[in-house]
Amino acid sequence: MFIANPNRYEKMIFRRAGNSGIKLPIVSFGLWNNFSENDDYEKCRTIVYEAFNNGITHFDLANNYGPKAGNAEIYFGRILKDGLGKYRDELFISTKAGYHMWDGPYGNLGSRKYLISSLDQSLERMGLKYVDLFYHHREDTDTDIRETMIALRDIVLQGKALYVGLSNYHDDKLIEAVTILKELNVPYVLYQAKYNMFVRDLEEYKSYKNEFYGGFIAYSILAQGILSNRYQNGIPEDSRISLKRTSLKETALDENYYKLIEGLDIISKKRNESIACLVTNWCLRNPNMTSVLISCSKIEQLYDNLKILESLPLTETEIKEIEDLLNIYKRNKK
Ligand SMILES: NC(=O)c1ccc[n+]([C@@H]2O[C@H](COP(=O)([O-])OP(=O)(O)OC[C@H]3O[C@@H](n4cnc5c(N)ncnc54)[C@H](OP(=O)(O)O)[C@@H]3O)[C@@H](O)[C@H]2O)c1
Repeated sequence: MFIANPNRYEKMIFRRAGNSGIKLPIVSFGLWNNFSENDDYEKCRTIVYEAFNNGITHFDLANNYGPKAGNAEIYFGRILKDGLGKYRDELFISTKAGYHMWDGPYGNLGSRKYLISSLDQSLERMGLKYVDLFYHHREDTDTDIRETMIALRDIVLQGKALYVGLSNYHDDKLIEAVTILKELNVPYVLYQAKYNMFVRDLEEYKSYKNEFYGGFIAYSILAQGILSNRYQNGIPEDSRISLKRTSLKETALDENYYKLIEGLDIISKKRNESIACLVTNWCLRNPNMTSVLISCSKIEQLYDNLKILESLPLTETEIKEIEDLLNIYKRNKK
């Protein structure tokens, strides 16, 4: 039986999501990809237990996380049943719908039909009565935005989600959607965006600069593992590139990339931390970033990522050094 570490909140740092009542740990845990049907269940459970033991209260899922789609929710449901569920009121669990989930016209995008039935399926897979946060997973230009937002409102009114969020929207659509949600009195709290040293669109979002538009949480902060020491000595057999489960390809690892990693390695060594830790710190440098999602294929990566809690904020000089490295990388990429 799982008994959580009584000191689990000793080190964790929490940030408020926008002006909502919700505080999230600065590192939250995502279950995309490393919780597939090919991953050992016991290993996955240990990682989730250890995340919680170290103060990570927020776990992020989606209907299609696997592979196979749905498997991450099935594993997470088992983990809850095995012991974590005892701490349900300490957990902030999110799931999403928006990408292809089942065949036919009702298993994708942003219709009311899809969102409501998909969440019902997610709740069943996880054995939950409600999730804390339900996201529309991506912008849908084919469905009237009000239909999607009203579906989110009704999901909250049905008691199936406490809060709602959005992910992968352009800034103008995000502003339009949040404005509708506010008009409808829907508790919108969080926007989830890809944000890392290579993908920085969020910095240009007007919504990112205004608390009215809620909190922000970043995904793929390590660019799926390549912004770390993971590939420093070649491509490990058990790595995401070797496993070929995602779009991440060996071609990302060119000479220019290795120069960047070399530079990041020098800065991180001076700080006595890993590249992953340095990169995580960089993503959190703006206080509007409520939390960043970490994920790992092995427990050692989790422990390494948790060192962020002891890591000092980056100095202006370090931020400038990183910016210089990124400019060189960008210039040589053209
Ligand atoms: N909203 C969306 O559309 C969306 C899209 C993608 C992801 N997400 C969310 O964001 C979460 C994280 O995404 P992500 O998996 O792409 O994140 P990521 O942090 O960029 O990549 C995670 C991978 O990095 C490697 N890694 C982790 N910690 C490491 C460390 N300390 N040292 C060296 N390597 C390390 C591992 O690679 P190996 O597997 O090779 O060991 C791990 O699987 C997902 O689980 C999901 O919740 C959301």
